[in-house]
Amino acid sequence: MTPTALPHDPALEALWMPFTANKAFKVKPRLLVSAKDMHYQSDDGRQILDGTAGLWCVNAGHCRAPIVEAISRAAATLDFAPGFQMGHPASFQLATKLKGILPNGIDHVFFSNSGSEAVDSALKIAMAYHIACGEPQRTRFVGRLRGYHGVGFGGISVGGIEPNKKPFAAQLLPQVDHLPHTHDLSHNAFAKGQPAWGAHLADALEQIVADRGAGTIAAVIVEPMAGSTGVLIPPVGYLERLRALCDQHGILLIFDEVITGFGRLGTPFAAQYFHVTPDMITVAKGVTNAAVPMGATCVRGKIYDTVINATGQGIEFFHGYTYSGHPLAAAAGLATLDLYAAEGTFARAAAMAPVWEQAVHSLRGAPHVIDVRNLGLVAGIELESRVGRPGTRAYDAFVDCFFNQNLLVRTTGDIIALSPPLIISEVQIEELVTKVRRSLETTD
Ligand SMILES: Cc1ncc(COP(=O)(O)O)c(C=O)c1O
Repeated sequence: MTPTALPHDPALEALWMPFTANKAFKVKPRLLVSAKDMHYQSDDGRQILDGTAGLWCVNAGHCRAPIVEAISRAAATLDFAPGFQMGHPASFQLATKLKGILPNGIDHVFFSNSGSEAVDSALKIAMAYHIACGEPQRTRFVGRLRGYHGVGFGGISVGGIEPNKKPFAAQLLPQVDHLPHTHDLSHNAFAKGQPAWGAHLADALEQIVADRGAGTIAAVIVEPMAGSTGVLIPPVGYLERLRALCDQHGILLIFDEVITGFGRLGTPFAAQYFHVTPDMITVAKGVTNAAVPMGATCVRGKIYDTVINATGQGIEFFHGYTYSGHPLAAAAGLATLDLYAAEGTFARAAAMAPVWEQAVHSLRGAPHVIDVRNLGLVAGIELESRVGRPGTRAYDAFVDCFFNQNLLVRTTGDIIALSPPLIISEVQIEELVTKVRRSLETTD
């Protein structure tokens, strides 16, 4: 009998689930059937507190009426408009509205449908820019170990999460180097906010430049705060150093803000939180409050101008997606940005961050906890791994949280990542932390 033949509902068989232990899931499924504000409802009728904003994306809370209505209106008015050599008003309006909250100087927007596509678009834009500048030999990319940049071949090549790359190692982009990651519990355990140690790790870029030659490197891409790998907060001064080194060597700096964009740290983007402006910002998720898939690569005016003006009257950049700026996504994006502005969502997250910090750090001393780290409304709770079975302890806690605590958390390895919708209340923060603690107390 193969493991897939374990008894399970045949209605679940046809779907090949992404980033999921399919066999285990189908034996004991976790199904969500509806959602409102801070809660999901499970198929057995339980209210599940959303500790992860879905997948770091439902920043304004679930099924918000203005977004739902905007999508319905768009679906009934303009279901689709080609984005190649044609346009429709909402995508232009959304680009302009995004420009209004992006850091100064980042003022042009290329739409796609996901974070992965936003990243691959950014890598291509970097190459197109250098070609337009007369430096076509700048083709190399620098990512960072433990970085997550989606699942396209570009994204996994610059990314640094081994299981995502290993099976495909024979066909990754060939000219990529990686900076070291910044995680070191011997220096940074239980740091509140940005850890003091580690800015010097950015200097590894100097060695890469020395080895490869500055004139061969197109761009450095990092998450300003690494999320998917298990919440790694940048050390004080680290991003500033990366920015200075990129400037010194004519290398573009890309911040992948698919998670940190739209208020997660209490500012529109992490770039503003850290006062470091990159040359490009990739976004997705919170741009539409996740109600319709959308990604975007946001670039400095000089990048757009250089690429656009390097050619004659024809198509300047041979890249795009059928659904770039899709009318439903654009409508959702416009309604979402309006909602964030009307409710002061980002400022609210900033105001709640100290409450959050105090609450999550109260888990220090709970069973198995070897680190707690936080920034904005994000926290990573790192657990001691079981001997020979890494990842199983956090996974068991995740399953227990779902079935027994009515709480959705996310885990990577033995790290529990918490990133609730930004509308979470103080009472709900307390509830969330209490549920995590209870779960850890029952997990062996
Ligand atoms: C930083 C970062 N980049 C890219 C992605 C990929 O986004 P998507 O899953 O929409 O392709 C993610 C997804 O979590 C992410 O966190």
